[in-house]
Amino acid sequence: MATIRDSFHSRLGFVLAAAGSAIGLGNIWGFPTQAANNGGGAFVLVYLIVTILLALPALYAEIYLGNQTQKNPVGALSEACQRFMPKAGKAAGLIGLMGAIMMLSFYTIVAGWMLAHALAALTEMLGMVELSTWLSSSSMTRDLLFTPIFIVLGAAIVHQGVNAGIEKWSSRLMPILLFMLIGLIVYILQQPGAMEGLAVYLIPDFSQVTDPKLVISAMGQAFFSLSVGVGGMMVYGSYMKKGKDLGKLVVSIAALDAFIAFLAGLLIIPALFVAQTAGVEVFNNGKLIGEGQLIFSILPTLFNSMGEMGLVISFVFFALLSIAALTSTISVTEVPVAYLVEEKSYHRTKATWLISALVFCTSLLVIVFFDVLFELVIQVLTTLIQPLMCLFYFIVVGWIWQRGNKLRDQAAIEAKPALKWWANYLRFVCPILLSVVFVNVAIIN
Ligand code: PHE
Repeated sequence: MATIRDSFHSRLGFVLAAAGSAIGLGNIWGFPTQAANNGGGAFVLVYLIVTILLALPALYAEIYLGNQTQKNPVGALSEACQRFMPKAGKAAGLIGLMGAIMMLSFYTIVAGWMLAHALAALTEMLGMVELSTWLSSSSMTRDLLFTPIFIVLGAAIVHQGVNAGIEKWSSRLMPILLFMLIGLIVYILQQPGAMEGLAVYLIPDFSQVTDPKLVISAMGQAFFSLSVGVGGMMVYGSYMKKGKDLGKLVVSIAALDAFIAFLAGLLIIPALFVAQTAGVEVFNNGKLIGEGQLIFSILPTLFNSMGEMGLVISFVFFALLSIAALTSTISVTEVPVAYLVEEKSYHRTKATWLISALVFCTSLLVIVFFDVLFELVIQVLTTLIQPLMCLFYFIVVGWIWQRGNKLRDQAAIEAKPALKWWANYLRFVCPILLSVVFVNVAIIN
């Protein structure tokens, strides 16, 4: 008996869930830090170019594969490669799935830090100073508590299903996130020193634009930010009815993602200069003192210097980061869950808890061997797995996949000139461009 697949009930629901996946720690933490370190406006410019030329086409290819096949990533890639290389399709799907677990193994740790800091502000407001100090100081015990709490939060949403869990919660949380972000920006921009930061952020320093490292950082950031290469967007695409105008949807997701990253820069970079004006040491030789320290040391010092209001700001800020991380986590958790449900006939609830247990075990490894594993896992995921998976998507959509692929249907392409351009762009330009950057990464590393 064929079971009816769960699905998104509206286009807006899909866009909010996909934007929820895209908008995460990468936007609110990663993007502003990279911009502050790489020539401000120059980085923003290069980031936008790389997003349009490569990350957005990759997002399209990923969502298109899911949407057209209506299957989980392993099933979708096997089907698309059925005619010429079914095994390679399945293998790539499983590599993506591994990428999803890797992503969760470090992301849930960092998300746990955000949650702990939000609670630190709250407990301090309530006068529980000792608890608050513990919550805001990093320790393995704290990680061992907050990583699983965060994993369980994600699982609690995912096990409810696509419409009742993911769509409902994304639609609730995303507007709250925007609201909090705008509120924070308005407050910070009124503080002394903020305008100097605004200028650094918005005026490009073109001398840095041609630095190959800048282009590579921007590309890694763009892929990570648009969530491509681990199947989260593919599985969301598969929960939408076929035949929608994907181009428009993909552009709206990318635009929302870039917009939030841009807004986060309007908050963080001026905040750095406000902190500097207040006497906190922020830059050393034009570079931020430490990326990690930005969120957990510089900004908290700034919030502390703001008195009572600082506690409120601190709570809102870390709650914002926690929400952003949660909606990203659920999209990635859905990848292995959908695989177990569809390919191995698991019940959704059982699949969700099983995957959550597995994620907890991998994050435990990262917590225990933090110094060796944390950076390494992030590095392998963002500079290897994500770009290689995107290359695979381009090759599959452009060359391998025949049946069901409109971009390979000669009659459809001839009838619509725009489609022909797009098909050729995905087929020829994207794989070459991506390979060029990829080889450069290998050389530089
Ligand atoms: N895009 C998310 C962020 O910006 C992270 C993410 C990566 C989510 C890969 C899903 C897949 O934080």
